Amino acid sequence: MNSENYYPFAYVPLPYSFDALRPHISEYTMYFHHDKHYKNYLDKLNSILAKHPLWQNIPLEVLTKMGDEDLQKNAGGTYNHELYFNSLTPDYKDPSANMKNLIAHSFGSEKELYSAIIDASVGHNGSGWVWVVFTPEKNLEIMVTPNHETIDFDKYIPLLIIDLWEHAYYLDRQNDRREYLSAVMKLLDWEKAEMRLNGMK
Ligand SMILES: [Fe+2]
Repeated sequence: MNSENYYPFAYVPLPYSFDALRPHISEYTMYFHHDKHYKNYLDKLNSILAKHPLWQNIPLEVLTKMGDEDLQKNAGGTYNHELYFNSLTPDYKDPSANMKNLIAHSFGSEKELYSAIIDASVGHNGSGWVWVVFTPEKNLEIMVTPNHETIDFDKYIPLLIIDLWEHAYYLDRQNDRREYLSAVMKLLDWEKAEMRLNGMK
């Protein structure tokens, strides 16, 4: 994630190599997704802020909620992509005992959580993002936001996010969003999810 959290926002390198997520996500997809799509949002965000000094001291999370359409799109595109690349790992490890309890409490089992994520994603019409969040009631919950919109950060802690835009999977799987989601379930970074739960980025 962006460690500065204020303008100018730094380019955050992919935390693993482009080919590390194979065979689930190809090197080609990861290269275009990170170095073209994500970087494009980041560059546009910085260029918008360069022209608006009053927005330069606003944290990234808040910028994603602002009414200006171009600003929202590029701030959300930056925030969500940085969280996405840090929601995946080539070194999948099962959730910790603590996280397993939380999953069981909220969904019954990991299998049921994964089914719910996939169903919510496939049921969403068009581009967007699916989130696993921690609620004020101390549950896990799945949320879907359209386009590059974000969740209510005052209320929910984002633990994991998955990109539902076709550019995330079209090169590998054409329009098969369900197959992409099934593959991503084997890449979720539960260690980082738990760090976010504990207030560490
Ligand atoms: Fe994307």
